[in-house]
Amino acid sequence: MLLIGWWVWTGGWVKWNLRIIHCLFPTTTHLNVDVSGDLRVIFAAGGTGGHIYPAVAIADELKTQNPKTQILFIGNPTGMESTAVPSAGYDFAAVASAPLARPLLSPHNLIIFPYRLIKSLIESWRQLRDFDPQVVVGTGGYVSFPICLAASLKGLKLVIQEQNSVPGIANWVLSFFADRIFVAYDSTIDCFPRKKCVVCGNPIRLSLQQYVSKAVARMNFFPGLGEMGNSEAKVVLVLGGSLGANAINISLLNLYYQMLMENMNLFIIWQTGVEAFNEMESLVKNHSRLILTPFLHSMDLAYAAADLIVSRAGAMTCYEILATGKPSILIPSPNVAEGHQFKNASLMADIAGSRVITEDELDSTTLGTAIEGILENESLMAEMSERALKAAKPNASAEIVEHILSLVKLSTAKER
Ligand SMILES: *[C@@H]1O[C@H](CO)[C@@H](O)[C@H](O)[C@H]1NC(C)=O
Ligand SMILES: *[C@@H]1O[C@H](CO)[C@@H](O)[C@H](O)[C@H]1NC(C)=O
Ligand SMILES: *[C@@H]1O[C@H](CO)[C@@H](O)[C@H](O)[C@H]1NC(C)=O
Ligand SMILES: *[C@@H]1O[C@H](CO)[C@@H](O)[C@H](O)[C@H]1NC(C)=O
Ligand SMILES: *[C@@H]1O[C@H](CO)[C@@H](O)[C@H](O)[C@H]1NC(C)=O
Repeated sequence: MLLIGWWVWTGGWVKWNLRIIHCLFPTTTHLNVDVSGDLRVIFAAGGTGGHIYPAVAIADELKTQNPKTQILFIGNPTGMESTAVPSAGYDFAAVASAPLARPLLSPHNLIIFPYRLIKSLIESWRQLRDFDPQVVVGTGGYVSFPICLAASLKGLKLVIQEQNSVPGIANWVLSFFADRIFVAYDSTIDCFPRKKCVVCGNPIRLSLQQYVSKAVARMNFFPGLGEMGNSEAKVVLVLGGSLGANAINISLLNLYYQMLMENMNLFIIWQTGVEAFNEMESLVKNHSRLILTPFLHSMDLAYAAADLIVSRAGAMTCYEILATGKPSILIPSPNVAEGHQFKNASLMADIAGSRVITEDELDSTTLGTAIEGILENESLMAEMSERALKAAKPNASAEIVEHILSLVKLSTAKER
């Protein structure tokens, strides 16, 4: 039993099956690329911004290094990726796929899931055949599973990137098929086949790293602000998370109007999450110093405009806060599936001085006091900002791209 378990764990079982599949259906992929001119890359990412934006960041870096690189994103037709990817300037193709249900041994997983998985595998196979990429990059979300699996069965190079300290089940299974695994944290290596892992942090969208002046960014949201030249103005950016964040909505709902009335220099940009938007819009009063939006497409401008970020402590948001050097108030999600958020928030408190409020402590008074305490203390804000910038690892995308390129070059060299 133990031996078989060990064999499965180390991927022997998977490799063995792969070998059989390759014998039965020999794939004839022609990697006759001139890497400098004709690289084609497929990104498989979906579900939340945490999975989609690292892929966008890697794509941006590939394009910067070689504008001729052809890039295609594949995701769910109804997922956030279907709008977020085109608005980031990339082509998008849809493959419908279904998540595993919980508990794992439910009738859905045993009967419907395999059928839908095979369907998505066939669709993925078609997309891969038509675009003919040399490498497929998976950054998570359940839709990435069939695409990456199809890529591996087709004999394409496969790399995955894991943003969290503990991988989800899809990336864990894919790790046995992948050629490289890019992880953000040293400790994550223990969850994967060690030899394939490269620790390089989480990729941050290029646009966030590029310098957009605060004044320009602010004008974009509050046109009056630039002309007034109001140096006293303070902009708070509230991120409900790409799937919304209930408790944050509620406490801010009881707070925002009073704060705006008491402080004439306060401006708020509030991303509610798509689901909550209609309800929130009906509850929130119009105010010239408040922007309420379901989803921020120009996140770079929003970060650049902000003096303070109020957010969940998702791995990507933490990284973006560090990379943009913003003071922050973090409210870790109490969700069990996102239990690592509390650890991340405490770590952010240590390295960047972020103020952490747990969901239990969260109400409009605590949140209001925390916001005022930071905005009113210039030296504290400067210190938080400086510490965040110091802790950022801004070079993840470049490192990942270097590995991807050398992987493709290696395989082309072998073909010749
Ligand atoms: C806040 O967001 C959550 C999650 O999107 C939503 O379910 C909830 O209704 C919102 N709260 C309010 C008060 O609108
Ligand atoms: C709030 O402003 C929006 C657009 O600026 C407008 O469509 C809406 O009717 C306004 N709502 C109220 C209650 O004034
Ligand atoms: C997220 O949490 C993990 C441990 O759970 C930690 O290693 C990592 O540095 C955290 N990331 C950030 C940005 O705080
Ligand atoms: C401002 O923050 C600093 C820490 O950076 C702290 O020492 C100081 O007491 C704060 N000032 C006020 C008025 O709270
Ligand atoms: C970033 O990574 C690339 C590729 O690994 C490397 O060539 C470059 O020197 C790195 N830059 C910094 C500032 O570390």
